Amino acid sequence: MITCENGIFAIQAEAYSYLFRVNHQGRLEHLYFGAPVKTTDAEAFYCRPGLGWGASLLLDDKDPASCPDTMALEWSCSGRGDLRESPMAFGGQTKSPVYHSHAVFDGIAPMESGLPQAQEASQTLLVTLAQPGLEIQLYYTAFPTVLTRRTVVKNTGSETLSLTKLMSFCLDLPGSYHITTFDGSWIQEMGKHTLPVLDSRIVNESTTGFSSNRHNPGILLSDPEATEDSGRVYGFNLVYSGNHYSSAQRSHQQLTRVMMGISPDNFCWKLAPGADFEAPEAVLAVSDAGFDGLSQNMHRFVNDHIIPKKWQNRARPILYNDWEGCGFRFDHNRLLGLARKAKKLGCELFVLDDGWFGKRNDDHAGLGDYTVNKKKLPFGLKGLASAVNKLGMEFGLWFEPESVNPDSDLYRAHPDWVLRDEHPLILGRHQLLLDLTKPEVRDYIVEKVSRVLDSANISYVKWDMNRHSVALGEKSHRYILGLYDVLGRIFGPRPNILLESCASGGNRFDLGMLCFSPQIWCSDNTDPIDRLAIQTGLSYLYPQSTFGAHVSAAPHAQTLRHTPLATRGNVSFFGCLGYELDLKHLLPVEIKEIQAQITFYKQYRKIFQFGRFRRLAEGWQVSRGDTTLAGLYSGLCHAAPGYQWLKVKGLNPKVDYRMVSRQQRLRIGQFGGLITHIAPISINPHGILMRTVDHHVTLPDGQEDIHCSGAALASGVALAPRFLGTGYDKNARTQGDFGSNVYVIEPAP
Ligand code: DGJ
Repeated sequence: MITCENGIFAIQAEAYSYLFRVNHQGRLEHLYFGAPVKTTDAEAFYCRPGLGWGASLLLDDKDPASCPDTMALEWSCSGRGDLRESPMAFGGQTKSPVYHSHAVFDGIAPMESGLPQAQEASQTLLVTLAQPGLEIQLYYTAFPTVLTRRTVVKNTGSETLSLTKLMSFCLDLPGSYHITTFDGSWIQEMGKHTLPVLDSRIVNESTTGFSSNRHNPGILLSDPEATEDSGRVYGFNLVYSGNHYSSAQRSHQQLTRVMMGISPDNFCWKLAPGADFEAPEAVLAVSDAGFDGLSQNMHRFVNDHIIPKKWQNRARPILYNDWEGCGFRFDHNRLLGLARKAKKLGCELFVLDDGWFGKRNDDHAGLGDYTVNKKKLPFGLKGLASAVNKLGMEFGLWFEPESVNPDSDLYRAHPDWVLRDEHPLILGRHQLLLDLTKPEVRDYIVEKVSRVLDSANISYVKWDMNRHSVALGEKSHRYILGLYDVLGRIFGPRPNILLESCASGGNRFDLGMLCFSPQIWCSDNTDPIDRLAIQTGLSYLYPQSTFGAHVSAAPHAQTLRHTPLATRGNVSFFGCLGYELDLKHLLPVEIKEIQAQITFYKQYRKIFQFGRFRRLAEGWQVSRGDTTLAGLYSGLCHAAPGYQWLKVKGLNPKVDYRMVSRQQRLRIGQFGGLITHIAPISINPHGILMRTVDHHVTLPDGQEDIHCSGAALASGVALAPRFLGTGYDKNARTQGDFGSNVYVIEPAP
């Protein structure tokens, strides 16, 4: 519900209240953003400047309350006395628009530039600030758990304006906060870093042309005392896939100014008379229930308002992807062999990754030429897809449509189609980006990809992008608009195709891409132990339905780490499960284990993908209806480990529950020479007999089956003892390094 009475604007939603006022000088003063309060509380939040601070610049010399520098503001002018960072810049020109008018609409206010935006809001407030020759429109759209804000600048004068910075929002929050950013690189995405916001500005920015794996656009501001379950935490994110910027800085008056938008780095947009410029939509969330409460608000918003409607709450298929198993080396028969095996394991979708077209036999050539390689696929995609369909699986295909290799027919025909400037070309992974600002390039991509999609029964697309951009400022923004245009034109008419976007893993994991692709391949790093950190980082801002999570081979390709197959499954369960390894060499015991994993996941898939997610001290949990699933993960083992407890959150303390762990099996080979202590005959631990037994026989690991109240589970129930080096105990948990398990908690029958 949005109201405006007596100069007080109030946005009241299920999870928050947002209050601001227009003051006697037409400035918008921020009053409150937090857990719901009454609109009549507004006055209580007003920061009174008294007689003002020394050295102030006053808009009215007789009015000490007229200093913009010390006000908590919704928007700040450039020049004119607010000496803090400005959310807008016009190449050095002073701009100071003031309140002009406002209006409230039902639903969203559709954007006009082609940027994606959240859908199905209750109401939108538009406040217009104006001065001669300029209008600033501030949009506030209310969703149940978040507010979105965006800014439009309009040139209402007769001279062209040079817009060099425009944030999507600017806000002054009372008090001091810690800022959390999510940073990294290829195969190390979403590393969580927290530091106090003090008097110097802290910036979270991407200048790579994309939202980037270096700095995810989403940030948190938290009360220094906030914990996982208590205290105030704010979250901010941007519905945008290009260069982004956000900053936080505390003022002398203890106001923390935060803003977010397109990166102003090298940005310059010529705004002709009558023209306007739209900044992307920003998301603002708050919770007084700690980081968990904040994540919950963000998750609900993404699942209900960002993901394409068709895929909201729709179960995602368990896929097999051939990339880590085959790379570029495959043909029809090898793929079909893998598909048969994947089907036997229980997979539902077979995805053919890179290498199916042109001269794409390694990553030096062929990108851009989407003509099927008939040597590898003599029956074409149609033949392969229908053979896969006949097995009872869906078929999916990889593309990297934004890129081109210099060694490709496309580049030879259109060298002018690549993104470049007057300098020599720079390659990344031996490739260039196509210039998506050009209509003919966009038409080519739409035509080529659409034709392939319509040539066979393709129900899933992996849309990859594997290099940084060289475009700066305006060009860089126009590229992203071009990308959204292409995605909308290809997938809008094909809503049944499940789109998973990817950019060397998580180099473009953002809300803009999620408006088109319900899930994103979040990292090329599939090592489950590294994945614990990556998926935990993502979980602060994005629900688990948005990330692809695959089981791959051990030792792992990037870490050489050996992890139990059970743990690889237990980590990947908390996302959209897939398998990505060569299935040809799976041992009989591994086949059984994967079959058991897939059966388990299918039983609880909706809970894993869409359940209410929570971070635990040593793992994660998801809940939906009466069922909770908790994953508990260990690092390196130590001799003589102590007791261990599992605390489960969010249960009804009065209800009696049964907690059962997933039955896991122990490999005989894991015991090595120890087996000789219990075997009736002498066995060579490296011999054929031992190997044969190891490949076919497993021992049951200890399984929990605990009946107790929700109150007991919240307090922490004692788990079975761990391996103590004194023999095999069928009731103990013999997990070894990087062991884990998943626990199913349901009301007792
Ligand atoms: C990078 C992606 O992240 C991988 O999953 C794979 O699709 C390769 N590209 C293929 O070249």
